[in-house]
Amino acid sequence: MEKFKETNIKNYLSNPFELKDKWMLISAAKNDGTVNTMTASWGGFGVMWNKEVVFIVIRPQRYTKEFVDNSDTLSLTFFDESHKKALAYLGKASGRDEDKIAKTGLSVAKDNDIPYFEEAEKVIFAKKLFVQPIHESAFLDKHLINKWYAEKDFHYLYIAEVTKILEKE
Ligand SMILES: Cc1cc2nc3c(=O)[nH]c(=O)nc-3n(C[C@H](O)[C@H](O)[C@H](O)COP(=O)(O)O)c2cc1C
Repeated sequence: MEKFKETNIKNYLSNPFELKDKWMLISAAKNDGTVNTMTASWGGFGVMWNKEVVFIVIRPQRYTKEFVDNSDTLSLTFFDESHKKALAYLGKASGRDEDKIAKTGLSVAKDNDIPYFEEAEKVIFAKKLFVQPIHESAFLDKHLINKWYAEKDFHYLYIAEVTKILEKE
């Protein structure tokens, strides 16, 4: 197993706009220990309620949403380019239909019961603080609705407190 070192949250430096091209996996485990994950490229890092937080958005039909809703915690995992194919697969196949993680060959690890991946470059562990569905009526720029929500499957916004960051040594 490759080694990780913990990074002090206050010293964490990363360009949040990299996400658009770099992607990440959002992972969570249910009470029975089962794990699911999905690729995401939208989200952010910031400060809310005086805490260091991450923002993520999940559409209602994602199987991963069941896992995130079933757990107090989740992880965001970042990889180098060599894993892009695996992330593309995890962002297209659903854990509802198959063991998609096994198909990618990625290895699930757990830290305090929170799943992440051994192949990761960086892992952000977080504790959920807030969830709210995005309402159609809240859009000020209505073009976004047609562009991103043809199926009216508006995301749920989650805000979670960053509890730990691991980076590969
Ligand atoms: C680059 C990329 C970014 C994605 N970002 C999101 C996202 O932010 N929110 C979301 O709900 N789905 C997003 N998806 C789609 C899910 O990853 C995809 O539907 C996945 O198959 C869901 O798997 P699941 O059903 O096992 O949860 C993205 C997919 C890709 C390829």
